Amino acid sequence: MKKLNWGIIGLGKMAQVFAEDLVGVEACQLYAVASRSQEKANQFAYQFQAKKAYASYTKLIEDKEVNIIYIATPHAFHFEWAMKCLQAKKHVLCEKPMCLNLNQTQTLINEAKAQNCFLMEGIWTRFMPSTKKLLELLQKSKIGRLISVEADFGFKPKYDENSRLFNKALGGGSLLDIGIYPVFLSLLCLGKPNDIIALARKAPTQVDASCHMLFNYATGGKANLKSTFENTTPSEAELFGTKGSIKLHSRFHQCELMEIYDENRNSTEKIELPYQGNGYIHEIEEVNSCIKKGKIESDLLPLKFSLDLAETLDFIKKEIKLTY
Ligand SMILES: NC(=O)c1ccc[n+]([C@@H]2O[C@H](COP(=O)([O-])OP(=O)(O)OC[C@H]3O[C@@H](n4cnc5c(N)ncnc54)[C@H](OP(=O)(O)O)[C@@H]3O)[C@@H](O)[C@H]2O)c1
Repeated sequence: MKKLNWGIIGLGKMAQVFAEDLVGVEACQLYAVASRSQEKANQFAYQFQAKKAYASYTKLIEDKEVNIIYIATPHAFHFEWAMKCLQAKKHVLCEKPMCLNLNQTQTLINEAKAQNCFLMEGIWTRFMPSTKKLLELLQKSKIGRLISVEADFGFKPKYDENSRLFNKALGGGSLLDIGIYPVFLSLLCLGKPNDIIALARKAPTQVDASCHMLFNYATGGKANLKSTFENTTPSEAELFGTKGSIKLHSRFHQCELMEIYDENRNSTEKIELPYQGNGYIHEIEEVNSCIKKGKIESDLLPLKFSLDLAETLDFIKKEIKLTY
């Protein structure tokens, strides 16, 4: 069967680790890469044996041989380039967050549906073996009824007002970069919250250096979430039920060790759940499989989920007075 031809736009750190996994997946090949610099594109293409190296994102989109494009630019450019890909009838895997707000996300999804193209947000955590296991355990009521989710994600990058982490024009801030993972986990396990309280500490660039969030659910469920660029935090998650809890050991968004506790906090089970490669193989296989089946969205990470996520992030941003 003919291999799917992938293209990558934006050859930064993420593109590198993603490409390392992509080239090992049988059903596809890295066909083309695009950078704003020809030299960088050439070097990247050489490293991963891609056939085409473009110094223009548009040229890659125009390449008739490209089937699916992975967008790995800073967040602020996801909407623009994903839109251009879809308008050219290319399937798209867009890095998280898919867009900067709900309005952009909805517009992009409408375009994907109009063009009958596949679109997915690159939340790789959804496809990890640990996430599959977690949902299975919750489904079986292993810890009784789920009543709360606690999750944090924090690391301390060097402050640089021009970096994509702190520069507002590039979509900077801890919430959109890493806070999205605790929010994702809460939405996955408890659904969309009814009420949100959020507090942030701002960096000098006015993006959130840290963000604390409390979600309230109609069911009575709660989520206590945090993201920060101010220190390295445990970056763990724990889901508490009426009969015990499940801990996703650090870093929870790429968890390989899950621990189950009873209601008296006795550890009853440790489950090792290694992921393949750098962790992106599972996500890549899902995209390949959906496209081969002619699907325009993944059942595991449907477009409605990205809409709910964007709406929740918008609400949090409103609470912390952050607009892009
Ligand atoms: N799923 C994950 O595990 C994960 C992990 C890290 C990051 N991410 C996501 O991946 C995306 C990229 O993150 P990254 O860490 O790879 O960032 P990065 O190292 O800064 O790379 C981003 C690339 O985007 C391109 N770009 C286009 N316009 C740009 C501009 N005005 N300023 C800077 N770069 C520009 C550049 O590529 P060219 O110079 O080649 O054009 C740059 O190398 C983000 O949206 C982030 O959320 C996901």
